[in-house]
Amino acid sequence: MCGIVAATASREVAEILMEGLRRLEYRGYDSAGLALISNKAALQMRRRKGKVKELEMALSHQPLTGFNGIAHTRWATHGEPSELNAHPHTSGGRVAVVHNGIIENHESLRNELKEKNYKFSSDTDTEVIAHLLHYYLEKHGKSLSEALRASVLQLEGAFALSAIDIAHPNQIVASRRDSPLVIGVGIGEYFIASDQLALRQVTDRFIYLEENDTVLVAPDFLEVRNAQEVVVERKITQITSSPEENMLGSYSHFMQKEIFEQPKALHATLAATNDSESAGLFSPEIEKTFDIIKAVQIVACGTSYHAGLVARYWFEELAGIPCQVEIASEFRYRQRVTQPATLLITVSQSGETADTLAALRGIGSAEFVASLAISNVDNSTLVRESDLVFLTKAGAEVGVASTKAFTTQLASLLAITLALGRRNGMHEDQEQEISSALDSLPDTISGVLKMDSQIRDLSAKFTRRKNALFLGRGVYYPVAMEGALKLKEISYIHAEAYAAGELKHGPLALVDEDMPIVAIAPADQLLEKLRSNLEEVRARGGQLCVFADPDSGLESSADLLVLMMPDCADYIKPIVYTVALQLLAYYVALNKGTDVDKPRNLAKSVTVE
Ligand code: F6R
Repeated sequence: MCGIVAATASREVAEILMEGLRRLEYRGYDSAGLALISNKAALQMRRRKGKVKELEMALSHQPLTGFNGIAHTRWATHGEPSELNAHPHTSGGRVAVVHNGIIENHESLRNELKEKNYKFSSDTDTEVIAHLLHYYLEKHGKSLSEALRASVLQLEGAFALSAIDIAHPNQIVASRRDSPLVIGVGIGEYFIASDQLALRQVTDRFIYLEENDTVLVAPDFLEVRNAQEVVVERKITQITSSPEENMLGSYSHFMQKEIFEQPKALHATLAATNDSESAGLFSPEIEKTFDIIKAVQIVACGTSYHAGLVARYWFEELAGIPCQVEIASEFRYRQRVTQPATLLITVSQSGETADTLAALRGIGSAEFVASLAISNVDNSTLVRESDLVFLTKAGAEVGVASTKAFTTQLASLLAITLALGRRNGMHEDQEQEISSALDSLPDTISGVLKMDSQIRDLSAKFTRRKNALFLGRGVYYPVAMEGALKLKEISYIHAEAYAAGELKHGPLALVDEDMPIVAIAPADQLLEKLRSNLEEVRARGGQLCVFADPDSGLESSADLLVLMMPDCADYIKPIVYTVALQLLAYYVALNKGTDVDKPRNLAKSVTVE
């Protein structure tokens, strides 16, 4: 949802900003731009519609120089993707602003500013911030940091923003509300970004800003003020992960890299669940909470919501704990009746998803026993604002389509099932079986990854199709939903998932020889029922691709292609089958030539409602 990067130093910063934008492009790629204050205190700017490489080309023809600057990659909210709507936005030839979020009162501010003779050159909500800053600087003679504080007081909605002004050529100001923003601490230089990933090439020390903080930085100066405008010290955190973690290496796409990293990510996540020393994982506080809860409410969006749907089967069937799962954007606006002693679990890879955060912030004071965040990003807003935290150890996920984050969420949720089951009369043998199934997970996933070329061959059947159906029953229904989401978001093929038993209640009307159907058919108690559903499809000419267990008794024939999955315990099959569906989506997108890592209209971190 837009990426911001800013740098003030005693050296050229254009390349630092551009590298930051390349690393932040997962947040939006409709347009990109940067503004620098030259050594003669002039404001220089380049903006381009499209991806960061368009801006890169523009800069290679007409480079910009300067020690102080801001840059932005955009995911359009107000105003179409165009050069005029690209950030930075300027005012009076002196101020430039980059912004992530939505200014909800931009229309009334726009009207007030027009009355003050400000002219608007874009359709964005952001431009009001540039003019507001200019107004306070020019008409009220305020300093840059005073002008920022006066301006943010007028803004309603969510924002992370950063601004420069030629009258303060060494300074950058920034502020955040409901959108992430970090300060990178260098030696005699400071950086600002939406995500620390943008700055890992220049520093490993970060300050995570709090709600309504305002910041002023110069190469050797930092001042953070809190919401009450009081100067405060914010802790500097040293990051230990390697700056190369988000490099492609020998892979063609981040999605491919992240699919293949799953054995390692799962191993790290499971190791952490067994290590009582590691930060927050099964901490004594979590254990104490698990002792008293009687029900679970899971809230999440997109792929993370699918993880919650799978977990509901586990919590109820294996741990005997009643579980509700809801999409965050619905949960937050609904009048709810919550059972006593319910634990709220939010699931979010980024920990910054606006709807999930709003759902957490909107709960009643005594509605839940506690809130537990399952997230992949330490120090994310969700992690900081939840009572309890369970960190997945997927490592940075750059591809917009979530893969290793999802499977590590599932592994964490299965480990939680085990912890809850232990307290709820789970038989020791079953506990042991689940535990060994989890131990075998990384190796089993390596087995699925060996099906790579088989799945690549299968993908050809989908390349020219416009639609696809995904079928599953029981816990494999949400797995089918996740398979359909992966396919639609990166290949742009319309894909829907159905609980296979629902087929004859409507969707069967869609089935003909042009409709490929993916079925998830492990040998469980629902297999016979699923087989009947597959026959219904077959009888209507549907093209079936079935992912099945070796002992399912299914065999390939003219209208039925069966791919045998590695043998493994039932408990981990939802995770194992998911990986095959990820590979399928990846290869279909590759065949179609879409931008796998940056699918159109999407962004990795959805920090707006
Ligand atoms: C799909 C995908 C999205 C995210 C959703 C929530 O591949 O990645 O559906 O799962 O936007 O994001 P997080 O998990 O960061 O809250």
